[in-house]
Amino acid sequence: MRLSISCLILGLVVVATAAARPKIIIDNDWNAGAYITFLLAIDAGYEVLGLVGDTANSWSRQTSLHALALLEIGNLSCIPVHKGTDYPLLNNEGLWETRKLLHGPLPYEGVFQPYNETAEAIGRDPSSGDPKRLALPAFVEGFPNTTLASEDAAAWMVEQVRKYPGEVLIYSGGAFTNIALATRMDSSFASSTKGLVAMGGYIDVMLYQTSGSKTLADINSDINLKIDPEASKIALTAAFPSITLVGNGANQVFPDQAYIDDVATAKTPYTNLFQKYYGTELPFWDELAMFAAIYPNHVTNATSFYVDVDTAWSSPYYGNIMAYQKILMPRSQNLQKINYINQINATALKSAMKSAMECPQCISYCGCGSKRKH
Ligand SMILES: *[C@@H]1O[C@H](CO)[C@@H](O)[C@H](O)[C@H]1NC(C)=O
Ligand SMILES: *[C@@H]1O[C@H](CO)[C@@H](O)[C@H](O)[C@H]1NC(C)=O
Ligand SMILES: *[C@@H]1O[C@H](CO)[C@@H](O)[C@H](O)[C@H]1NC(C)=O
Ligand SMILES: *[C@@H]1O[C@H](CO)[C@@H](O)[C@H](O)[C@H]1NC(C)=O
Ligand SMILES: *[C@@H]1O[C@H](CO)[C@@H](O)[C@H](O)[C@H]1NC(C)=O
Repeated sequence: MRLSISCLILGLVVVATAAARPKIIIDNDWNAGAYITFLLAIDAGYEVLGLVGDTANSWSRQTSLHALALLEIGNLSCIPVHKGTDYPLLNNEGLWETRKLLHGPLPYEGVFQPYNETAEAIGRDPSSGDPKRLALPAFVEGFPNTTLASEDAAAWMVEQVRKYPGEVLIYSGGAFTNIALATRMDSSFASSTKGLVAMGGYIDVMLYQTSGSKTLADINSDINLKIDPEASKIALTAAFPSITLVGNGANQVFPDQAYIDDVATAKTPYTNLFQKYYGTELPFWDELAMFAAIYPNHVTNATSFYVDVDTAWSSPYYGNIMAYQKILMPRSQNLQKINYINQINATALKSAMKSAMECPQCISYCGCGSKRKH
């Protein structure tokens, strides 16, 4: 009884403040460890209009179902999930394999790493082969009991941005395929958003490909952009009111066991997943990009420059960004001046993630006991 009254009061507060909340759409190649981005946004007071599942680390069907499951475990199923396209605009497995012969493999190849039945049987998300197939062992968070929204991601994003002109921040943690499609579908899409923030856009990191471990090479390659170079170019040269790229700076903060133990002192479905599966090998990439966007006061070092994306298929830099100052930039195209994040306050990031994973909002965000299914 006490619980339901506090839930009701919380619910009323949520309703009362709903109009004032900033809005965000979170597009990502979701996996079982990807819950922190939407939890950070919710914790910072954002209204999450929906999640989009794209193809980058794995196929969009698998990533979208991960998104549904991750919402479900936190009572957040009122947030819809829209599936993105199966394929990048042009790229596919055959082209990827051909490029590997010309320019060498990337240390991590995301959805285009060769199909490996054994790896999928023990928990890896699917790569190559049929984009519709699922790998169930990867759903360590549970397989979703809710369903995907029927509308395709790009059309839905266009509709949301028309509904709330100037209000919607677009977050991209995977490939830009669906954002590029929305940009082309409605030529006022980009300029009608609040802005774009994206994880990716590494620059001047080539020596890391040679001078360290394969992991060091991996975390300095740019899989999000290179999975769909044409879409990266369309999105990053579109007239968003602001574009924030978090590339090199996204490698700044790594998990460590002491932090994982500290987070796990609170018992929620998210701290539980974090403790069991997050690991300490890879940096907080997507989390740091979200943090930089929603807590700009904690950005401690940033710069800005004009950006293009190399889309010459035969180029070894295919899918990498090119950076310019105004007097030296190409004249035949409209490049955007982007904000490039070099550093954020790591202490503040870790404390925001901890508070987000405790998720005090999970009890009331979707209204008490009501689970709107999509
Ligand atoms: C869906 O329901 C089944 C059966 O109750 C459960 O095992 C599973 O964990 C649920 N999925 C999620 C994501 O909560
Ligand atoms: C397939 O995945 C398994 C398990 O991760 C691994 O041991 C094996 O080397 C992989 N096979 C290939 C050809 O990469
Ligand atoms: C900001 O970051 C850039 C790139 O890492 C670095 O070269 C520069 O020294 C930094 N500036 C300060 C004031 O730390
Ligand atoms: C970083 O954030 C922490 C926690 O919010 C704060 O105490 C500290 O002063 C900040 N440091 C800088 C350099 O802003
Ligand atoms: C989800 O709702 C149930 C029922 O109100 C509650 O017991 C549970 O703690 C909630 N989960 C989270 C993560 O808050």
